[in-house]
Amino acid sequence: MILQPQIQGVIARSCHPIGCKAAIEKQIYLAQQQARTSDMPRNVLILGASSGFGLASRIALTFGPANASTIGVSFERGMSDKGIGSAGWYNNIFVKDAAIKAGRTTSNIVGDAFSDQTRQMVADTIRTQCGGKVDLVVYSLATGIRPNPETGEFWRSSIKPIGEAVEGYAIDFEKNRLNSVTLSPASEQEINDTVKVMGGEDWLSWMQFLGQNDLLAEGCRTVAYSYIGPEHTHAIYHKGTLGLAKTHLHQTRHDIDALLSGINGQADIAVCKALVTKASVFIPGLTPYLLALYRVMKAKGLQEGCIEQMDRLFYNKWNRQQDRDDEGLIRLDDWELQPDVQDEVNTLLAQMTPENFTQIADYEGVLTDFLQLNGFGFSNVDYDQPVDIEQLKTLVP
Ligand code: NAI
Repeated sequence: MILQPQIQGVIARSCHPIGCKAAIEKQIYLAQQQARTSDMPRNVLILGASSGFGLASRIALTFGPANASTIGVSFERGMSDKGIGSAGWYNNIFVKDAAIKAGRTTSNIVGDAFSDQTRQMVADTIRTQCGGKVDLVVYSLATGIRPNPETGEFWRSSIKPIGEAVEGYAIDFEKNRLNSVTLSPASEQEINDTVKVMGGEDWLSWMQFLGQNDLLAEGCRTVAYSYIGPEHTHAIYHKGTLGLAKTHLHQTRHDIDALLSGINGQADIAVCKALVTKASVFIPGLTPYLLALYRVMKAKGLQEGCIEQMDRLFYNKWNRQQDRDDEGLIRLDDWELQPDVQDEVNTLLAQMTPENFTQIADYEGVLTDFLQLNGFGFSNVDYDQPVDIEQLKTLVP
């Protein structure tokens, strides 16, 4: 079967498994170029391991000099009569395959990270694979819904401003268009629900669960990923519902620090750069900024993808306590927020219109990243070759 991209707005309805493999190989190569630092984690649990920052964390730690043993939790779907499955499904398969070939131990747990069943599977796997304890937990879930454990009903996040409406643009990869959008302010309920879904509550509850089950090693660390961004994006992000959820995540770090104090552990927040991922393209109002940012950072030789960010996190910033900001956050958005970068981004944004965005900004680069998330757009993959569906069906994460 020949596989083509099927895009609906900002959602990819198909993926190309051979291209997913190429994406994994590219990231592995970059991780292998890193130099060893001291105190690297050896046994790592990654929640949200199949794409974006979680996948890059896993690759950096497994194939970089840490040589870590990893357990990856994700929510992905395999092949069915509805389609080929999700890119994350194949990412899990090819990461595990490469890890085994490289002599590392690794496991995939595909299930809902909010369910007791998945937690139990994680506990069992830590006992069998990691000698009973992990020394790092990466929390990289990005989701729009979370079940309320008491009622079974769902909290749903809303990506909205707070207080007043915001005008902006949203990208449409299917029609190559920038559409005007007006985002109405969130209600009290929408704000609270977004904090429930993307705030720190679930991170804390995972750490409590792991601690209560004696699955955390002495000195265990945990990290969750956040975004702050420049003034220009604050109305839609930092001062909107998502930003409030991230503020809650930042505060939760202190609760987890207290929880880990008995084992000399530590909780961190890494504030990452804005990047095209499956989750971020859903944030209306952010894409014009991404288009301008990509253009400027590439011109200055500062552009990074998820793997470069995670390599810099684990092999450069990880143990440098002196390098944190006033709040103690690890800043991987340092290059993004450089004044010269932001000045040029603001100049571009002031000129950007739905008519000129493909010329003045890096639409091609953003679109390529989006396609590559789903295994399309790699020059070393022959997309005219049919994919062997029967062989793919035999692969399991
Ligand atoms: P992503 O969409 O690429 O990855 C999300 C991961 O979560 C996937 O592995 C998915 O399978 C997993 N997941 C979602 N729901 C799940 C569930 N119920 N059970 C188990 N696994 C589940 O997202 P991305 O962008 O890598 O985001 C990860 C974190 O990084 C988020 O906290 C996000 O806010 C943060 N971040 C993202 C930035 C960006 O520009 N993309 C910038 C800064 C921070």
